Amino acid sequence: MKNVIFSLVLGVGMLASANATAGDAQAGKAKAATCAACHGANGIGTADMYPNLAGQHADYIVKQLKAFKDGSRKDPLMSPMAAPLSETDMADLGAYFASMDSSGASASTDSGSAPVAVAAAPAAPKIVPDAAAGKHLYEQGDTARGITACIGCHGKDGDSLVLINPNLSNQHPEYIEKQLNHFKDGSRENAAMNQVSMNLSAQDVADLGAYFKDPAVKAVAKTGAAKGAAPVIVAGDVEKGKAISGTCVACHAADGNSLIAMYPKIAGQHEEYIAKQLADFKSGERADPVMAGMVAALSDEDMKNLAAYFATQKVTEGSGTANDIGKKLYTGGDAARGITACTACHGIDGTGMAKAGFPGVANQHVDYLKAQLVKFRSEDRANDRSKMMRNIAVRLKDEDIEALAQYMSSL
Ligand code: HEC
Ligand code: HEC
Ligand code: HEC
Ligand code: HEC
Repeated sequence: MKNVIFSLVLGVGMLASANATAGDAQAGKAKAATCAACHGANGIGTADMYPNLAGQHADYIVKQLKAFKDGSRKDPLMSPMAAPLSETDMADLGAYFASMDSSGASASTDSGSAPVAVAAAPAAPKIVPDAAAGKHLYEQGDTARGITACIGCHGKDGDSLVLINPNLSNQHPEYIEKQLNHFKDGSRENAAMNQVSMNLSAQDVADLGAYFKDPAVKAVAKTGAAKGAAPVIVAGDVEKGKAISGTCVACHAADGNSLIAMYPKIAGQHEEYIAKQLADFKSGERADPVMAGMVAALSDEDMKNLAAYFATQKVTEGSGTANDIGKKLYTGGDAARGITACTACHGIDGTGMAKAGFPGVANQHVDYLKAQLVKFRSEDRANDRSKMMRNIAVRLKDEDIEALAQYMSSL
């Protein structure tokens, strides 16, 4: 049985790799800006849940992006990322990440800081991971228990020679364990891997993860350096923005820290996000009669400069109340109800991710936050790319929204 699967997968792999379109790494670089928030500017995931892509096979990357797009591989974060990509985009992105050095260091030090709404690893207090046992299983398999050796498909030390089989070397062990569990329970589908992982015990999964933690295999050493507060670097002209911000003062205050709960604070918000909102108000993609009037006469240049000005202002403290219900939903989501953890996009501290277009939500007025979640839920606000917010908001009850808004404002 195992030999049949083996040759089948190997054969298909060769074929598919021979047919793959060669991408343009240079073009891929430009398209990868949104990916960096999670997969790192150097292709090394910024947290354990974000797989490293540097040095991964281009063919494998393309295959996964297609799978996320057509829904055969599901992930609340990646599905919306892959949805707008064309075949050319995918080929270019694959070529770009494949060209990167896989031995880079993660930009993040707080690897555990971004939990998502996936079922937590089953609490298994008795399991002590054994890297040596993992190595043995990886190289030899266990015929008696019907477990195929991994080395045949994934290569010595996890460097696979088959272009459509992923490299496992230099991958986060946590990510490897999660994938094995998903193949095992069928939530990630692949004929070969579903078969291989079927007989893996929780101990085996932990051992295999530990094997990839072994520095001899996983050469990457995370830097211990602290990140430090990054200065706000803007592209627009702050002075020009300030000069034309007079019309905004009545509602958003001179420094963007609005004093009225229904008007959002825009101080310290990401430049990219502010500029996008202004453009969306102008095009009508985000419908608001008040703001539409405000932006009607603004040029693209004006919007960029206003965004730069407000982005460089410091936000004042929010008045929300930290609460357990909000905190739980915000940091962990609710897998049973299909609610992705907000941390995944808006960050553990609520500061968002500028490059990916995820706004800061910390310190914002409670009333405004509530109003936006309600608008996303009813689709009165529909300017979120790939329905990222609408798909989540539709699952939120009024009491969730209340608790979340209070919590976000308190961050
Ligand atoms: C908001 C965070 C986030 C962003 C932004 C993001 N990804 Fe991902 N990506 C993930 C997560 C989480 C996974 C792992 C999914 C899983 O557990 O199955 C993943 C998995 C992948 C994989 C599969 C890797 C593997 O080893 O199987 C590829 C390829 C990928 N992402 C490419 C991209 C590209 C290209 C972009 C930019 C267009 C991008 N991602 C943007 C979070 C993100
Ligand atoms: C018959 C070939 C084959 C064997 C044997 C095999 N794998 Fe795989 N593995 C694959 C293929 C093909 C994929 C990619 C699946 C896809 O396209 O979604 C994969 C994917 C994976 C992934 C996900 C990687 C990622 O970046 O998302 C992990 C982890 C993994 N295998 C671990 C193992 C381990 C551990 C073993 C041994 C117990 C093993 N595999 C045995 C073919 C194999
Ligand atoms: C008369 C009051 C008023 C004035 C004046 C005004 N705004 Fe607004 N602004 C609002 C309201 C109300 C909203 C929230 C709309 C909604 O609920 O979607 C908003 C939303 C915004 C947002 C979106 C914030 C977010 O977090 O998504 C930005 C950016 C913004 N305004 C910038 C400006 C700028 C720049 C000016 C000056 C050119 C301006 N506004 C003038 C009332 C005003
Ligand atoms: C997959 C990424 C993603 C996840 C997960 C996510 N958001 Fe968002 N959120 C976004 C994006 C993107 C926007 C901005 C859309 C736009 O371009 O206008 C946004 C906007 C918002 C806004 C409006 C901010 C403003 O200033 O107008 C609020 C409030 C919000 N999100 C709350 C949440 C909460 C609460 C959760 C968890 C229950 C959550 N988000 C989960 C991506 C995400």
